[in-house]
Amino acid sequence: MSHWDAIYRDLEVRGLDIESELAGTAWLDPFLPLVGNPTGQALDLGCGTGADLLRLACEGWQPVGLEREPRAVELAQRLHGFPVKAASFEDPLPFADDTFSLVISRFALHLLPPNDAVNLFREVRRVLASGGYFVFAVNSDVHRQQGLQYDYTGAVEKEPGYWFLPSLGFGYLFYTPERARDLLGSGWEIRHLNDGFLIQWDIPKQAVTCVAEKV
Ligand SMILES: C[S@@+](CC[C@H](N)C(=O)[O-])C[C@H]1O[C@@H](n2cnc3c(N)ncnc32)[C@H](O)[C@@H]1O
Repeated sequence: MSHWDAIYRDLEVRGLDIESELAGTAWLDPFLPLVGNPTGQALDLGCGTGADLLRLACEGWQPVGLEREPRAVELAQRLHGFPVKAASFEDPLPFADDTFSLVISRFALHLLPPNDAVNLFREVRRVLASGGYFVFAVNSDVHRQQGLQYDYTGAVEKEPGYWFLPSLGFGYLFYTPERARDLLGSGWEIRHLNDGFLIQWDIPKQAVTCVAEKV
């Protein structure tokens, strides 16, 4: 059973609290005013149980999720009824060019090592319509330096910024704003890029947040 499967199995047993799930979507509050009027489809990469999909729908978008864990895909579809593709970030995104006006991702993309992140960001740009926005939050390198959230015992930096954590059995790419900019590459206008503190799932986090427009 994977790390995420265990988490979603536990959530399924305990039952999801939609109020607290929706409260967790507050990370979007500063960014939604930057992305224009809700028009068309919005994709959430690593949507988990779909709280952000629900928030996007409440804002007037047509939400679509993408998620690797079958249990989360099933939960998100059953709870909210939005389309969720079972797919992995490592593969080309299963959508046509220019499909979405908005792509978001909350604390999922930092699971990819740098090369995979570059490929995915290129894919995000492909599926976004011109003038569409990409909004994401990822763990910051300050998060690691401050020893927040995880057990860092024996952590090994496999590639610049990408740390394998033996306590979890997988790695995280800890971002800086410069790293986010480099990985995104060309073809974007950065509208917001910050390294700051926020609370997520009652956990103190230091996060890099980004809003980039496809140009
Ligand atoms: C920290 S959870 C965040 C879930 C959701 N965005 C939220 O904030 O509630 C990270 C999510 O990314 C998904 N994920 C991790 N690696 C993935 C991959 N390679 N492809 C697709 N989804 C992935 C996990 O299954 C998990 O649901």
